[in-house]
Amino acid sequence: MALYPDFPLSTERLRLRPFTRGDVDGVFAYRGRDDVARYLFDPPLSREECALAIQQRTNQTGFLEEGDRIVLAVETAEDGNLVGEVSLIWRSVEARQGELGWIFHPDHHGRGYATEATNALLELGFGAADMHRIYARCDARNEPSWRLMERLGMRREAHFREHGLFKGLWDEEFYYAILRDEWLSLRHA
Ligand SMILES: CC(C)(COP(=O)(O)OP(=O)(O)OC[C@H]1O[C@@H](n2cnc3c(N)ncnc32)[C@H](O)[C@@H]1OP(=O)(O)O)[C@@H](O)C(=O)NCCC(=O)NCCS
Repeated sequence: MALYPDFPLSTERLRLRPFTRGDVDGVFAYRGRDDVARYLFDPPLSREECALAIQQRTNQTGFLEEGDRIVLAVETAEDGNLVGEVSLIWRSVEARQGELGWIFHPDHHGRGYATEATNALLELGFGAADMHRIYARCDARNEPSWRLMERLGMRREAHFREHGLFKGLWDEEFYYAILRDEWLSLRHA
């Protein structure tokens, strides 16, 4: 299956669209920050690293084969402000599995933007991409992230303790997931 969705994806308050070269400053404004990077695999990025990441992301707009990712800039519909980014990775073609990710600028936390944007990606994953299960993971100390997973209706499936190193220290990681049927019944509840 090849999937190249039409963009933008629109929600009540947001537009989700592919990244463009003009996003470098907007991305650096959040990816350059220590507090944002704390639970990300990457350290804070320099402006040049943001430019490189954006160059990659301009091609991350569809699914052709396993491992492909759709990474979208999230902007407000009202004024086009870049508030963050969301991603959906096609983890398994055979088992129709996907993985969600999210990063938002702290100035735009606490407004439900991450919930609204990731709900649009669940819609894409279970809709056009025909996924069976979508999961997400985070450091167990990243409470805003796992609370977001719970708002999305995901179930905590695993709590791994010291199963790897995160930034040089033993990690603690939560896995959350939602099945297509669970998502459908939440939608129709
Ligand atoms: C994870 C992250 C996206 C969560 O952000 P968030 O602001 O908590 O999530 P949302 O945008 O969905 O906002 C939810 C909050 O807005 C409130 N809210 C306000 N208006 C709302 C609305 N219209 N709809 C829904 N929630 C609303 C909710 O009550 C909730 O507040 P609470 O946390 O006090 O309960 C954010 O912390 C982040 O980007 N962190 C840095 C990067 C990172 O760690 N990424 C994850 C790596 S695994």
